Amino acid sequence: MSHIWTPSSWRECPIQQQPEYPDTAALHSAEAQLASFPPLVFAGEARDLKQQLAEVAEGRAFLLQGGDCAESFAEFGADTIRDTFKVLLQMAVVLTFGASCPVVKVGRMAGQFAKPRSAGMEAVGGVELPSYRGDIVNGIEFDAGSRVPDPQRMLQATNQAAATLNLLRAFSKGGMADLHQVHRWNLDFIKNRALSERYQHLADRIDETLGFMAACGMTAENTKAIRETTLYTSHEALLLNYEQAFTRRDSLSGDWYDCSAHMLWIGDRTRQLDSAHVEYLSGVCNPIGVKVGPSISEDELLRLIARLNPNNEAGRLNLIVRMGAESVTELFPPLLRAVQREGAKVVWSCDPMHGNTIKASNGYKTRPFDQILREVRGFFEVHRAEGSYAGGVHFEMTGQNVTECTGGSGSITEDALADRYHTHCDPRLNADQALELAFLIAEMLKESRPGVR
Ligand code: PEP
Ligand code: CO
Repeated sequence: MSHIWTPSSWRECPIQQQPEYPDTAALHSAEAQLASFPPLVFAGEARDLKQQLAEVAEGRAFLLQGGDCAESFAEFGADTIRDTFKVLLQMAVVLTFGASCPVVKVGRMAGQFAKPRSAGMEAVGGVELPSYRGDIVNGIEFDAGSRVPDPQRMLQATNQAAATLNLLRAFSKGGMADLHQVHRWNLDFIKNRALSERYQHLADRIDETLGFMAACGMTAENTKAIRETTLYTSHEALLLNYEQAFTRRDSLSGDWYDCSAHMLWIGDRTRQLDSAHVEYLSGVCNPIGVKVGPSISEDELLRLIARLNPNNEAGRLNLIVRMGAESVTELFPPLLRAVQREGAKVVWSCDPMHGNTIKASNGYKTRPFDQILREVRGFFEVHRAEGSYAGGVHFEMTGQNVTECTGGSGSITEDALADRYHTHCDPRLNADQALELAFLIAEMLKESRPGVR
């Protein structure tokens, strides 16, 4: 590119999905405050994640990325963070043990606030107001005052992200992730007997393995990997005022990093080649992702790859495919072949959520669990047919006992959606559904790595 990238060069590019802040002085003051804050993550951690993702790109590890569709100020609390953390650990252990595969864990947490919307305005009973764009921008309540974008919300989001990250780091290193605790990660409300028994059985086998390892001299005291884990953070880099403020030059390498999270991605609605979002993420050295939805062409995808990963660095770029259960086996193969022909090194992951959102007959936005599983299966099948590696999954879940996606072993019906429907944006998998998904992926992953066991 002939132009010079800077943390603010995105401001010269066409931009979509941004709030219009009415008070420019207040916006500038909030941006200045954010820029004066310490970074939330350190560039060295983003480099470590990139190295681990390079292992995924080479077929030696698997990426598990999940969390809220939209974090909210209302659901913020230690229990929510702990329960999401536990479910992610459970899923990771099912995959690691079930498929003998190292799992790279990345939360959609500690910064996943801003949301793209299909319409700029929302109409209810003849009243039209600006759409809700996530708690970092405006309030979800349908009243004129709360829908005005308020830059102070970026400061509150930062505080919440910092506190969330702090607790996640404490859980990861402070004993919660010790493999001896594997039985205790099961949440009380996992009531489904078959699922619970399946997990308990796996936990028993892990206990037995740990006993054997201890007898051979490998204990939690002398082997860090038994007592600690690493959970990286990620979010959609949508609100670029926020991302710019956390863009810092790494003192070791001199490179720019977006220090609001370890990994950032570009959404399906903002991935145009000349867009501000592509410009911004092209210049930071974090591992990054791009959502790949049904409207992308082969040519567009190849040009995006060239722009975002010009040095063909393994671990830099994650393509997150979200075609929908009906379309994945038809739309994905030509894209995959084009990327293979080019020899581009990418991590392929499957987002089985965003192409499967429907409106239930009672008006709730939901996702049928069957369709989610079908898309994951389709994604693995395409990779098998093309001789490529299905490197990861990207999904929306919570550790809370919500009723937002229909189906699963708990058989949530459309009528039951109203019971505990708490999401601020898209319907999430609950703990049961997430665990069930993990068992299915473990089976497919094991089959896709025949040399391993
Ligand atoms: C999301 O991940 O919450 C999202 C909005 O996804 P997409 O960009 O794929 O629509
Ligand atoms: Co979503």
